[in-house]
Amino acid sequence: MSNNREYIDLHLHLDGAITVEIAKELARLQEITLPTEDDDELQTLLSVPKDCTSLNDFLSCFALPDSLMQTEEGLREAVRLVMDNAISQGVIYAEVRFAPQLHTDKGMSQEQAVLAALDGLKQSKLKGNLILCCMRGENTMDANLETLELAKKYLVEDGGVVAIDLAGAEALFPTKDYRDLFIRAREYGVPFTIHAGEADGADSIRAALGFGASRIGHGVRSYEDAALMQLVIERGVPLEMCPTSNRQTHAVENMDDYPLIDYLEKGIKVTLNTDDPAIEGTTLSEEFRYMEETFGLTREQKKLLLKNAVEAAFTSESVKSELRKRLLCESMETQ
Ligand code: ADE
Ligand code: ZN
Repeated sequence: MSNNREYIDLHLHLDGAITVEIAKELARLQEITLPTEDDDELQTLLSVPKDCTSLNDFLSCFALPDSLMQTEEGLREAVRLVMDNAISQGVIYAEVRFAPQLHTDKGMSQEQAVLAALDGLKQSKLKGNLILCCMRGENTMDANLETLELAKKYLVEDGGVVAIDLAGAEALFPTKDYRDLFIRAREYGVPFTIHAGEADGADSIRAALGFGASRIGHGVRSYEDAALMQLVIERGVPLEMCPTSNRQTHAVENMDDYPLIDYLEKGIKVTLNTDDPAIEGTTLSEEFRYMEETFGLTREQKKLLLKNAVEAAFTSESVKSELRKRLLCESMETQ
């Protein structure tokens, strides 16, 4: 491996990556008064609650970062700052995801939100792409269909919108209810990943695979069903695993049993990601260190995680080839 300290993040939420510094800069630019001027208090407001017991608690942290991204300027700068911040942590390619429908509080349309985020992406020095999140929820179908239409309109192979996702409270709004959305995405040729097997179990992953998901967000609970595990292996569908997030949301109750290495050994295409690094208080290099120090991730396994990320990325062959050269031995390209 050419350099041990370079990474790819395929599962990174924009609103989960707003650090104290970025929040202050977004507030300054838009003349927004933050709820506190004290950095430590702001840090607490932007962090997972200490008594977080579920994904539902975890998702309560997003109101503040989202409130700073309700204008084109706020959203554009957020994308640029989050991506540039990732560079300083060793990330060389990132897919940043956000839900355009969560940025319309002050009258911005979903399309304006997408265009603003695209501007931010272009201004960043980091190579990357955008994934548009649809949202689980009571009344999100129309907004989700609009997001899908925008993904179709702006879809590119590289350097822009490359896929859609389904985010939000999985335990409350089951994946199977989003069938029509993803069948249409498939008809349109819009690739998608779906958060599944995080707050809900194997059936959620099975539904996502049934719709034709190219990747699964988390998928950590695949072990709950041996037949499903076999299906994940046979289909070669990559899992975007995020261990610190899974610990904090209690997706996995006993972290001693965290299945990442077992999945790798069984031939599942596992990738390692952050999810919401600022909210969780982590970085991608810390996730790798956590896997190495706590679970004994070997050098070869680390290389495999990086190789899986290159192959799973929603990007062009030419970018994949560059990433392979930079992250992996040349010989990996032919394997
Ligand atoms: N939005 C931000 N983080 C999320 C997660 N871990 N699961 C579902 N939706 C999210
Ligand atoms: Zn996520």
